Order: sequence, then C-alpha cells, then structure tokens
Amino acid sequence: MPRTAIAAIGTCVPDRVVTNAELTRLMDTSEEWIVQRTGIHQRRWVAEGQGNSDLALAAARQALERAGWKASDLEAIVYATLSTDHMFPGDGCFLNAKLGVPGVPALDIRNQCSGFLYGLSVADAWIRSGQYRRILLVGSEVHSTGLDVSTRGRDVAVIFGDGAGAALLEATDDPARGVLSTHLHADGRFARELWTDAPGSFYHPRLQPRMLEDTSIFPKMEGQKVFKHAITKMPDVVRAALEKNGLVAADIKVLIPHQANLRISEMVQRALGLRDDQVFNNIQKYGNTTAASIPLCLEEAVRERGVQRGDLVALAAFGAGFTWASALLRW
Ligand code: UT7
Repeated sequence: MPRTAIAAIGTCVPDRVVTNAELTRLMDTSEEWIVQRTGIHQRRWVAEGQGNSDLALAAARQALERAGWKASDLEAIVYATLSTDHMFPGDGCFLNAKLGVPGVPALDIRNQCSGFLYGLSVADAWIRSGQYRRILLVGSEVHSTGLDVSTRGRDVAVIFGDGAGAALLEATDDPARGVLSTHLHADGRFARELWTDAPGSFYHPRLQPRMLEDTSIFPKMEGQKVFKHAITKMPDVVRAALEKNGLVAADIKVLIPHQANLRISEMVQRALGLRDDQVFNNIQKYGNTTAASIPLCLEEAVRERGVQRGDLVALAAFGAGFTWASALLRW
C-alpha cells in the first residue's frame, strides 16, 4: 500500500502587517496584554480585493514550483477553511478555476483549526487506497474581514490573522517516508463555545439587520474554556499517535502545534516533556490563522530546524467544534 509523503509546501501571507500598536488605536487593549496572554506581536490582514482563494492560489503556486509539478499534475484538491470567499460553492472550486484544472475534484473541509489535519487524513486515505496519487491540500483563512475590531470583540480580534499554506501530497512506496497515522476527534457539546452564530440557514431569513446590531455575525469564544480543553486534548492526541506507532516523545524531531496561543503551545510542550528545539511556533508573526496555521508553521520549521528526510514530525490541532487531531509523519 502506498504512503502519503509531502513533496513540497508553499505559503502566502498578505503584505499588510498589523501590529499590536495598531490594534490599540481601534480598541481598548495594550501591547502588554496581547503579548503576555497570547505571545502575538503582529498578524497579517488582506487588502480589499484579495480573497481566501487568492492566498491559497499563491501558496499552491509556490508549492508547485518547489516540487517541480505543474497544476495539471494534480488529481484532487482538498481545501480547509472556515472563511470561504462566498457562502457557496466552497473555495476548492474557486481554486480549481484559478489553477486552471477543470475536472479535478475539489473537496471543502470545514473543521476550523483542525481542518488541515482532517484534510490530511482524508487525502492520506485516498492515497493509501490508490484512488489518487497527487493531491493539493490547502489551509487558507481570511479572518480580518469578519472580526469585531471594537473593544466589544477584543478577546477574539487580537488573536486571529490571515494566511495560507499549501502542501503537495504524493504517493510513495518508500517505507522510510510519509504519514504514519492520523487521529481525529470532535465533541459537539462544545459547538457554541467558539462559533459564529449568523448568518445561518436556521434563521428566517438567514441574514437579518438585527444580526449586525447584536453582533451575532462576529465570532464568539469562551476563551478560558477553549484554553483548558486545548492544553489537555492536544497532548493526549499526540500521545495516542506515538503509542499507535510504538514511538515516544523523544523520537520527535519537531512538533507543530496549531498556533492558537503561545501559552497553549508552551503548556503542550511541557505536558509532553519536549525540549524547546523539538517544538516550533510562529504565532508571534501571524497570530492564529486556524486551518492555515499548521502548514504555515511546518514550512518554516522545516527550513529553520533543518528537518531531514526520515525525521519524525508531529502535528497537533485543537479548535472550534470542539475538534482536535494529530498526525505523525516521516519527512
Ligand atoms: O484556535 C483555537 C481556538 N482559540 C484558542 O485556543 C484560544 C484559547 N483562549 C485563549 O487563548 C485565551 O483565553 C485568550 C487569549 C482569548 C484570553 O486570555 P485569558 O487569560 O483567558 O483572559 P480572559 O478571557 O480571562 O480575560 C481577562 C481579562 C478580562 O477583563 P476582566 O474581566 O478581568 O476585567 C477581559 O475583559 O482581560 C480582558 N481582555 C482584554 N484586555 C485587553 C480580553 N481581551 C482583551 C484584550 N485586551 N484584547
């Protein structure tokens, strides 16, 4: 049975850097609060006219160039995002058109911060089953156009940023490379602890003027509850992955935790007993980019930590749903 290897990763973040100082001019917050509670120094916001699928396209093109592939080599697109350009169809179809690959299937995944790993799990199953051999997996997010950037929404607004990461997945017969296992979870009892209520087809009509006034169009989060679950579920799901493969934490070359909050990453690191050089974070520069955070971070980690063929890479995520997930792979 073939395995799934990452042939290349590409990334794209918008040019516009939004510092904490800039946010203090929009809402009652401070550089000190944001850095101490989250570790974030800056994030990127898109300019008008630049959409989610544009970021994804740039990331995908970079990955294709790095791998020496043409868009026509792709057999499937898997696109993880919670912030599609339009209500429907999903951004997978818009990306398909922008890449110029009519006929190539496009699957949209909406599992928020765990979206990239849910997508990896599906793509891995397709490759193992022999259905496809070359898949584009994207995590792309535009949060900035949907945030309440007043003091009312400050707990959420300071955290999120825009960006995209694209991984090219290919079938390999090399037993020393590829995805070892993926582990997915959800607990919908917590669906309203981190969510955006409206617009929604539950309402008649789905978009109403009152939704602008009562802020139900903006993301809401029970921050402390999310935090507490994240710092237990992420280590648990990494341990489960290690156990399944007969490995231990010391075997990990680098862990990429979903970039939700630097304090969460540090607590996950401690819970797993990992050294600083075994965990990579870049939330300081990009904030929380939900589905894009793992590929954005993985791409940098591979370059900066000198990840070599065969090194063990661990990926872990936790987010809205609640959903959480992990993956282990040999680079
Ligand atoms: O991607 C996965 C999903 N997201 C996460 O994993 C995020 C998980 N949660 C968190 O990262 C943290 O809970 C936050 C960073 C969101 C908040 O940090 P916290 O230490 O849990 O703060 P808190 O919510 O308990 O709020 C403490 C205080 C409150 O004021 P009072 O009631 O103590 O007077 C908030 O109103 O901080 C206030 N506050 C702020 N102050 C300045 C909340 N947001 C801000 C802000 N600037 N941006």
